[in-house]
Amino acid sequence: MEVIHSPDVARDFVWSLRREGKSVGLVPTMGALHEGHLSLVRISRELCDATIATIFVNPTQFGPGEDLEQYPRMMERDSDLLRKEGVVAIFAPSRDVMYPDGFSTMIDPPAISRTLEGQFRPDHFRGVVTVVMKLFQCMPCDRAVFGRKDYQQWKVIEAMARDLNVGIEIVDGDIVRESDGLAMSSRNRYLSDSERCRALRLSEALRAAERAVGDGQREVEALQQIMQRCLNGLSGEDQEESAKSDPNAGTNGVDQVDYAVVVDAETLEPLDSLDRPAVALIAARVGSTRLIDNQVLTPTLSEMEGR
Ligand code: PAF
Repeated sequence: MEVIHSPDVARDFVWSLRREGKSVGLVPTMGALHEGHLSLVRISRELCDATIATIFVNPTQFGPGEDLEQYPRMMERDSDLLRKEGVVAIFAPSRDVMYPDGFSTMIDPPAISRTLEGQFRPDHFRGVVTVVMKLFQCMPCDRAVFGRKDYQQWKVIEAMARDLNVGIEIVDGDIVRESDGLAMSSRNRYLSDSERCRALRLSEALRAAERAVGDGQREVEALQQIMQRCLNGLSGEDQEESAKSDPNAGTNGVDQVDYAVVVDAETLEPLDSLDRPAVALIAARVGSTRLIDNQVLTPTLSEMEGR
């Protein structure tokens, strides 16, 4: 497995594979790899002859006060994991190589970036689409694989690739969860034991919404209330009643909900009822850690046809 630091070497490497007739898959990451990332590598290996991963903690997608400096960096461990997964090369450029003095060109992200994460993390997607486009320029691959854990990011990158005629197929991979439901994330390592327990409210809220849809609930407002109650640590009406008399009830909840919404799965626009494929998206803070998670909610075909 090659470890490449220079964009020119990376480009030559990809072109030499493609000249040999091999299809090339790319898995962009910021490192601190977990099973979620490795599952993306496996998808790429299924679809392509050769898989390259990138490891770069991209400063332009972090806002002021976010965890850029704290973000875990573990190159040796990550390289071992990727080698075992059969990756042919890692592209791990330095910050100076990606953003040398005088760098000033940024991509204006597509409209779908403006809502949700775009509102809570201004300029985040500007940094994401810029670095992803730069990675695509360094590694002109056939396919690139992104996790659906970052649902909006996946949609933003799809739109960018379409709008800018990138010619790389954007492939998505399932969310990978811990056995108790917590979506895998490099940021989970920031959580203390008690915070990790409370972090479970995100996946529980999504499961509660999914169960309600299974039981016939179609009103988005009601689904959002179910998620909000769960995030607050109040999963049932009994608990809600006890919250009125017990000031400590609900302390099992998250510390702050940025959003807990059900929106159109394609456009991320608000919905009144579930008459088309929708996605429940949550961003919440537990302690100082900001977590995101999501679940696609699909109404029955007959309901969609009757729309
Ligand atoms: O999802 C991530 O890890 C990052 O946002 C990405 C796509 C590698 C760009 O830095």
